[in-house]
Amino acid sequence: SKKMSDTKKTILITGGSGYVGTHTVLEFLQDGTYDVIVLDNSSNSIMEGLRRVEEMTGKKVPRYQVDLIDKQAIQGVFDKHKIFCVIHMASLKAVGESCKRPFFYYKANLFSAINLIEVMQENDVYNLIFSSSATVYGPPKVLPLVETLETGGCTNPYGRTKYFIENIFRDVCTVDPKWNMMFLRYFNPVGAHESGIIGEDPMGVPYNIMPFVAQVAVGRRQEVQVFGDDFDTPDGTGVRDYVHVVDLAKGHLAAMKKIEEKSDVQPKIYNLGTGTGISVLEIISAFEKYTGKKIPYKMAGRREGDVATMIADASKAGRELGWKTERGLKEMCETLWNFQSKNPYGYQGKEQQ
Ligand code: WQD
Repeated sequence: SKKMSDTKKTILITGGSGYVGTHTVLEFLQDGTYDVIVLDNSSNSIMEGLRRVEEMTGKKVPRYQVDLIDKQAIQGVFDKHKIFCVIHMASLKAVGESCKRPFFYYKANLFSAINLIEVMQENDVYNLIFSSSATVYGPPKVLPLVETLETGGCTNPYGRTKYFIENIFRDVCTVDPKWNMMFLRYFNPVGAHESGIIGEDPMGVPYNIMPFVAQVAVGRRQEVQVFGDDFDTPDGTGVRDYVHVVDLAKGHLAAMKKIEEKSDVQPKIYNLGTGTGISVLEIISAFEKYTGKKIPYKMAGRREGDVATMIADASKAGRELGWKTERGLKEMCETLWNFQSKNPYGYQGKEQQ
């Protein structure tokens, strides 16, 4: 079939209908430099978020319901579009589920990544931005975490898939210098676009703290369980580096604008975080303060695999991508509540079974 002649460079975002994906598509469309297409298997998100992004921008986002397990289906997308760069976000990412179903996670995440780069190679597309995770550092030995630190020692199969994929991609770059890759290591993405039209819409019971707090606030959950108050942290509860999802989305745009400044064979790696650590109790009290909602909680035991503290040194992204976060805890809580209160049951409009 004829390739659509794209005037602008076309970016393919795998997993683009998800939480980070929809916010990233929105930032790219509003920036206007690139055309964006999405490939998603809809296993963890429905296309409603992207439909809303189209409504907000008045721009179409060609999207393909494709599972990266299916190489032919990926090739079908490459037949239709001349792709400049792929942002690979598609991934199973529920830490708890990965502990129960490790093989399902290894097969899905590793096969997807390998299929994707095979098809990219077969189509001479060598620009790749990989959505990685701070979890690849494993339990921190030194803080804040900097990109030159050794990775590995992840405490769950999900984290190991990110670690393995980083290493598979690194080895591919070593043997084929045509590859031009970046790894973006996300810390803890939270919040929503200021419009309250798109946000986080987790399936089932939220694993992460912020969507759980928001669902307590909107009356869907009774109370928050605080997983452990005996960590070596100021108030005994877990400390994390929460980054606003819009800042994170803008980080992808900043990375894209630098992707062509290829300096060496190895992938360029960037932490996307704020450099500030916030504890669970601080999250709960901030949410109450900025939204006026009461968030009942009770102390519970530690969750398997949780570490005390994760904080990013994000200065490299500042130096090399000109990226730094602009949204703080107040905006994280306000925007999250703005979306949750307008969409009590997320995009489904009804209680998810
Ligand atoms: C944050 C803090 C919990 C829920 C994970 C993945 C990471 C990325 C982000 C995918 C911790 C505490 C949580 C609750 C709680 N995932 N907590 N009660 O574990 O830092 O990171 O999600 O890309 O790869 O590892 O995020 O939000 O689950 O936990 O007390 O109901 O909140 O113990 O201290 P985490 P989180």
